[in-house]
Amino acid sequence: MVEYDWGPEQARKSLNRILPEVEKTFAIRLQQAPYEWHKFKNRLHREWEHLFIYLHQLYGWQYDFFYTLERILNTLVQYWLERPAELKLLDEKREADPYWFLSEKVVGGVLYVDLFSDNLAKLDDHISYFKKLGLNYLHLMPLFAVPKGDNDGGYAVSDYRAINPDIGTIEELSKLAAELRDEGISLVLDFVFNHTSDEHIWSQKAKSGDPDFMAYYYTYPDRELPDQFQKYLRDIFPTVRKGSFTWCEEMKRWVWTTFNSFQWDLNYSNSEVFRAMAEEMFFLANQGVEVLRLDAVAFIWKRLGTNCENQPEAHTIIRAFNAMTKIVAPCLLFKSEAIVHPDEVIQYIHPDECQLSYNPLLMALLWEALATREVKLLEYSMRNRYRTPAGCTWVNFIRCHDDIGWTFDDQDARNLGIDPVGHRKFLNKFYTGEYPGSFAKGVPFQFNADTGDVRISGTFSSLAGLEDAIEKQDSELIERAVRRINLLRSIQVSIGGIPLLYIGDEWGMLNDYTYLTDPTIVNDSRWVHRSRKRWEAREDLTDQDALEWRFFHEMVKLFNLRKKLPALQNGGMEVIHTGNPHLFGYIRAFNDQKILIVNSFAEEPQKMDATHLNACGVKKDVINLMNNEVLSSGSDLVLNDHQSVWLSTVWDISL
Ligand code: GLC
Repeated sequence: MVEYDWGPEQARKSLNRILPEVEKTFAIRLQQAPYEWHKFKNRLHREWEHLFIYLHQLYGWQYDFFYTLERILNTLVQYWLERPAELKLLDEKREADPYWFLSEKVVGGVLYVDLFSDNLAKLDDHISYFKKLGLNYLHLMPLFAVPKGDNDGGYAVSDYRAINPDIGTIEELSKLAAELRDEGISLVLDFVFNHTSDEHIWSQKAKSGDPDFMAYYYTYPDRELPDQFQKYLRDIFPTVRKGSFTWCEEMKRWVWTTFNSFQWDLNYSNSEVFRAMAEEMFFLANQGVEVLRLDAVAFIWKRLGTNCENQPEAHTIIRAFNAMTKIVAPCLLFKSEAIVHPDEVIQYIHPDECQLSYNPLLMALLWEALATREVKLLEYSMRNRYRTPAGCTWVNFIRCHDDIGWTFDDQDARNLGIDPVGHRKFLNKFYTGEYPGSFAKGVPFQFNADTGDVRISGTFSSLAGLEDAIEKQDSELIERAVRRINLLRSIQVSIGGIPLLYIGDEWGMLNDYTYLTDPTIVNDSRWVHRSRKRWEAREDLTDQDALEWRFFHEMVKLFNLRKKLPALQNGGMEVIHTGNPHLFGYIRAFNDQKILIVNSFAEEPQKMDATHLNACGVKKDVINLMNNEVLSSGSDLVLNDHQSVWLSTVWDISL
């Protein structure tokens, strides 16, 4: 463990040495904006010590560390100078209100541009639709230049500065960002920084034998090291390929490829890679992106003898990116995509690291409770694992573009008498519809014959039973599926964090099996829930009996209700004892507003008795904000089939 007592002093000295040189390099432009430069320098002085220490931890042992520092400072100044004036204004606005994203008013959506509107130009026409839904956070799935054919849904980036020509241009992206901003919608994009595609200019140069670019990746002349590493690595896409290394014929070397063979892992032990990726990051920030989803964060550092996931240096790299961001583009936030064990997920969440994080545990356990009709694992896990550091929050999703993995903690399950291995098997059977009586229509994803592991694909509605019910033309089953869907949505919107709608789910989008006819994606069942078809539904809005209409309006209703309730902003979330194994309840509170939310995961009516209500502070008449019904003090609360109630003493909020 290196001691950093000398850190502040050395940080100061280095900056004093480097800054005058950088000022000389950019002298003319800096003289034109003395006041702005002064503000930049304030931020630089504030963050530099942290940045210096992070960089020293990563690269301090390298003989050219001082050169690395110089180059990085140049990068910071250059990209700050290039940052458009309106974004610098936004930086100031966000600095004055740094926790804006914790507000109950923030509601997110995520979509694939090509599937939603064909291209970026046409997306403009739908801003009113996003506003109708109430979104103010819009995540566009990866839209950069990628190899033709299979490109892992855009996650194999060939150029971070070019948009896939089928989708648009970078100018269209920054124009769209500005338009969204004018409408109060923050643009969110992916930063796919663990790997590039094998068609990226860096990998092409590596293939041509350029040693500087070969050093951008992990390449090996023979199997000696790959075999040593491989012993501890897991296969992420086992049905597609075994092992994490791919032979590159051009280089005649093995390349580290954690995901697909065309996704080459970047080598962050090379400080040049760190700096080059920082440039790509700031280029994106300067297009008007306000939140970057850090893709596959767990994998960015390798260490022999470990599974090469969640290494301490992965955190240091993100913190170093974060410190630079606070200097150059302070409005930018990071969202972590760590779909790993819950103990690891939480490690990425910190104001100095990722202020936002996907909440894979909540997602998985909502599905778990829906299948079992019991809430014990959900309740136990949320009671112990929901809290995030101050100034940070979850992004809560029910479905996204990826599969569902059962990432709960084994010991949590055992503590409740649940056998984790058997339970995961049950859940997989249930959600692929194999389990007798299952309502779900999921599709297995990445069955691993060695471990028996498998994950689940499928849309929200198909997994919740709607597809099956429609096929059976059974109106009772349809209504039951609708109630399941509304239940999960209600929790997503109220439990604390930003609710993220996977666009299409507001309509009740069903599985789309057409991917089976496309040879480039036939092996990737995640395409069953990445459908183009969904958009036909949007024109149906007038038929109030149509399921689509009902789903859409229920979603809007929930978002609107959330926005009226300060208690639903980030902050206290306390899981309560409902005294009933089918009821999951929690209290949300802010200042003197307190809301008790109780959710039933059972078909049969369920009771939370007056004693338990009283213990939660329900001592007078309360109103259920979902339907305006009054619950008189001293009465039991009875919940119907998959009902969710939001109890409050606030009387003036109507739907
Ligand atoms: C992330 C993405 C996933 C992709 C993987 C590799 O997990 O969400 O879709 O396959 O990264 O980039």
